[in-house]
Amino acid sequence: MFMNFWYVAELSENVQETPVHVRMLGFDFVVFRDSAGQVHCLSNLCVHRGASLAHGKVKGDNIECPYHGWQFKGEDGVCTKIPSLGPDAKVPARAKVDSYPVQEKYGLIFAFLGDLPEAERPPVMDLPEYGQDGWRVTTQVYEWTANFQRAVENTLDPAHTEFVHPSMGYGGDREDYHVPDLTLTEEDWGCGTMTTFVSPDLPNSKMKGLKGDGEMEAGAGNHGPSSAWTKLHFSPHAWAHQYGFSTPVDEKNLKRYFLQARNFRADPEMDETINERNTAVMMQDKVVIERIEPFYTPLSSTEEVLVKADTVVTRYREFIQDWESRGWRIDSAKVDELREEKAFAIPSPARRIAKGWAIEAAPTVQPKIVAKAAAE
Ligand code: FES
Ligand SMILES: [Fe+2]
Repeated sequence: MFMNFWYVAELSENVQETPVHVRMLGFDFVVFRDSAGQVHCLSNLCVHRGASLAHGKVKGDNIECPYHGWQFKGEDGVCTKIPSLGPDAKVPARAKVDSYPVQEKYGLIFAFLGDLPEAERPPVMDLPEYGQDGWRVTTQVYEWTANFQRAVENTLDPAHTEFVHPSMGYGGDREDYHVPDLTLTEEDWGCGTMTTFVSPDLPNSKMKGLKGDGEMEAGAGNHGPSSAWTKLHFSPHAWAHQYGFSTPVDEKNLKRYFLQARNFRADPEMDETINERNTAVMMQDKVVIERIEPFYTPLSSTEEVLVKADTVVTRYREFIQDWESRGWRIDSAKVDELREEKAFAIPSPARRIAKGWAIEAAPTVQPKIVAKAAAE
C-alpha cells in the first residue's frame, strides 16, 4: 500500500455530529466535522497513552480523547487542552497527532495520507461529469477481501469481460473473439486505453435498445495505485463512465467507492435498476478476484504469463514500481511484526516542517535502487 495519495475515508453523509473511526492502509484514523462543518482526519491514536480518539467526542473544533479528556485540534492535530494539568497550563510541544489534508467532493471525504507538500501531491481522480447537466451519478460502496492491486488490475483487464460478465452480453464462446490491439494513453498518474469491441445487445430488458450496430467502445485506466476508471460507450450517445476509488483498509481488504455517471435514462427512478445491475457485475468480479492466488500480485512478472491483452496491467505495474522507488510503499510486514509493542502513524505534511513527534512515522519499503547502492 502506498502513502502520498488521496484516499476516500468515508461518504460525506456518514460524517455528521459524531466522530467516525476509519481504517485505511492498515492504520486507524478519526474523521469528524467541526463546529463550522469542516471535516478533519487525524491519526486515531492519542499520544497521551494510546486511547482511540474516534471513541471520544467532538468539542467545537477539537476531538476529545475518551480516556483523560485531552483535546486535539482538527486543523493541525495540536493538543489544546490537558485537563489534569488544570486551566491555562502549558501543553508540551510533543502533544500533537498527525492531521491529514482533507477534501470533500463528489459526496466523498478524501484524506491525503502522506507528507508531501501541497504542490507535489497527486490530485484526486477527476470526475468531470459530476453535477453536469444530462448526467446522473450514483454511488455504491463494496467491500472485497482482496489486495488493492489485484482489484485494480481487474479493472484494467479488457479480456475478462467476455468470460466474467455474461450480463454484459458476452458468453465466452465466440470463435472469432479476440481483444483488439490496445493503444495506451499516458497520464501523469496512470494510463488507460479505449477500444472498440464487437458485442451483442444487452440482455437485460431494461437495458435493451442502448446499443446500435453491435459495436461498443470501452476502456479503462488507473489513476494512482488504487483509483481506476471505466468508460462504456454503448452507442455514440449512451455512455456510462465509472470511477472506482478503492481504499485499502489493509493489505487484505478494500473498500471500493464506486461512482457511475450515466447520460442515458438519467431519471433518478432508474437508479435502483442501474445500481442492481452494477452490483451484479461487481459480484461477478469479486468472486474471481477473491480466489486469485497468490493473494498479492507476484513481485516478478516472470511468475505469470502475460500477453498482449495485459498491456494496461503491465504498464500499471511499472507505475507501482515507480512509486515504490520514491519510498512511498508502506512496509506493512514490519508494521505488523511490531504491532503489539509499537505504534506508527502515516506521516502528515507537518512532519516536514516540525520535529518532535511521539509516534514514529510508518516504515516504508526501502527503494530497490537505494538498497542496491547501499550494498555496493
Ligand atoms: S490516552 Fe488520551 S487523554 Fe489519556
Ligand atoms: Fe469486471
